[in-house]
Amino acid sequence: MNTRDSVLKILITSSDYVSGEDMSRSLGISRAAVNTAVKGLRNDGYDILSVTNKGYKLLNSPDNLTSGEVLALMDDKSNERIIVLDSVTSTNDYLKDLASKGAPAGKVVISDHQTKGKGRRGRSFESPKGNGIYLSYLMRPQSDLTNISEITAWTAVAITDAIRSSYGIETSIKWVNDILLNGLKICGILTELSIEGETGRIDSIVIGIGINVNEDSFPKELEGIATSLAIETGRKYKRSVLAANLIKALDKLASDWTSGKDYYLESYKQRNITSGKSIKVYKIMEGAEEGINATALDINPDFSLKVRYEDGSIHDLNSGEVRVRNI
Ligand code: BTN
Repeated sequence: MNTRDSVLKILITSSDYVSGEDMSRSLGISRAAVNTAVKGLRNDGYDILSVTNKGYKLLNSPDNLTSGEVLALMDDKSNERIIVLDSVTSTNDYLKDLASKGAPAGKVVISDHQTKGKGRRGRSFESPKGNGIYLSYLMRPQSDLTNISEITAWTAVAITDAIRSSYGIETSIKWVNDILLNGLKICGILTELSIEGETGRIDSIVIGIGINVNEDSFPKELEGIATSLAIETGRKYKRSVLAANLIKALDKLASDWTSGKDYYLESYKQRNITSGKSIKVYKIMEGAEEGINATALDINPDFSLKVRYEDGSIHDLNSGEVRVRNI
């Protein structure tokens, strides 16, 4: 964490004035370095009052997604675990690299912008600067491969919990892992797994989450598909609050895995809007994608989707083989 973020973290967590001397002592830096950091923060849009013999007080903050902002809202003893970047190709790729070099479970990478954000099925994920949250979280579970796809469904629950606790907004889940507000997508999840070749043991899981928070508009091709919390509610939000609550919800998920399933399954069922709907199930048939009409019946205990096709046959779908679209 750089000096500016360290000073910001102190200012955010102090309810009263903090003297330049106290900051210089606790950070082990000079008074001049504290002054430079305060100047830099003011340039970034922070409203910081300074009063002789009292020190500095933070009056107002812009919506900046920085480590100072996020770490001020976390109980982490050290500043090492959560990396916040201005820009990166993809937070998933960045974290997968750290994972391959031995990063511990719980490591987090957040970025204000992605130049090569990745979506599911090889698609790209629109990740403009300054409005969204692009976050990746590392898990190293001891569980077996059969139930690993459930982690994405649990993640959908963790995200909806974090949005609710941050901003009081109720979102819903479209099977298997899109988060919707007013029927439009506000968040996508891309989970990437790394397996040890020789033993088949799971080495790491990187959960990637992209949330549209303050965007005012989207490219033409996403119109009628994607939206943001700001567009749907008519106000702007402080992203650091959601980023911090999301990390806390993912920490809870990691410690609940796998024994805490009841909560995630019940919450998933309550928030899922796919059950009961007419849907199209898309399958790859000889290289081409074919859509088949069906009715979504229920979410099974393993988070697969029970559907009835028009010929009356009933099947359980798992996310790997199909894509569903509400008709
Ligand atoms: C989808 O809906 O297709 C999944 C989108 C996942 C996007 C997130 S943003 C953070 C992480 N890094 C990436 O490159 N992708 C995921």
